[in-house]
Amino acid sequence: MTIAPVQRTASTGSTAWTDARLILALEEVVETELNRHLKVAKEWMPHEYVPWSQGRDFDGVLGGEAWALEQSKVTPLGRVSLVVNLLTEDNLPSYHHEIATMFGREGAWGTWVHRWTAEEGRHGIALRDYLLATRAVDPVELERARMMHMAEGFESDNSHSMLHSVAYVAFQELATRISHRNTGHFSGDPLCEQLLAKIANDENLHMVFYRNLLKAALEIAPDQAMRAVADVVIDFRMPGHGMPGFERSAAQIAIGGIYNLRIHHDDVLQPVLRHLKVMEIGGLGPEGLQAQQELGFFLDGLDAQATKFDERQAALLARRAANAEKKAEAARK
Ligand SMILES: [Fe+2]
Ligand SMILES: [Fe+2]
Repeated sequence: MTIAPVQRTASTGSTAWTDARLILALEEVVETELNRHLKVAKEWMPHEYVPWSQGRDFDGVLGGEAWALEQSKVTPLGRVSLVVNLLTEDNLPSYHHEIATMFGREGAWGTWVHRWTAEEGRHGIALRDYLLATRAVDPVELERARMMHMAEGFESDNSHSMLHSVAYVAFQELATRISHRNTGHFSGDPLCEQLLAKIANDENLHMVFYRNLLKAALEIAPDQAMRAVADVVIDFRMPGHGMPGFERSAAQIAIGGIYNLRIHHDDVLQPVLRHLKVMEIGGLGPEGLQAQQELGFFLDGLDAQATKFDERQAALLARRAANAEKKAEAARK
């Protein structure tokens, strides 16, 4: 079945797609991608990654031992990032609401929405179980932060447009993958790294699904999809931006090398844009061309900003290392 756009844009005379028409036109692609996803996604068991033997009662109802910082075996940077990642995963009910409202709960779209939700649900479960069993973070602070974060809810910046939503999740799933993977890498605990690599693998498959969908959208509605990609890349923010203390945590995560401008540019934006050959797409109308140009300017600017960040980061880390060396020397005397 071929679905055609219905509206004509008065200013340029080009045809415009409504969200409803696009959702219909992309249904077949969603079905193909869903089937491909179900074939490659391997079942895994979150409970196998939790060292339950390390768990013991907390204070309060059971009269166990209260949490204390020295019980945590993960690095300080790992603690900050694990909390950000878990709180981000915790807001799944809001994310489900956003995509179920946008994409619908029927047909292939609906099957994807529910399957994706089930896979995402595993991430919060696995992370929380790991953090509590190992006493990696303060459970009281964690619970209070979860309550505050979830009580705020999450509203997508892109709920006004289906194409913007698809473009956003294509980049955001990869951003989340990188963030989990690097958090595991810097956690200081090999088991934590293994768990986060497993979660990162799920996020990667989600990225592939949305990226392939975006590819189809760029073929069906190139000008509108290009506008969506440009807007989303230019205004990108992580889904957890509303959580308590996000700015401070994000700064530590950036300096620590888990997620920063350089990583965002090199490991998140560029791989998706290159794969889709976004900057090489030809035959665009004036609106698409304008968006493609804006995107190009933005990426150049971001690369320059990332280079400045790299320099600041290197200087700061060198200062920290020198201070630590001085302290160690004073202690030896
Ligand atoms: Fe996730
Ligand atoms: Fe995901």
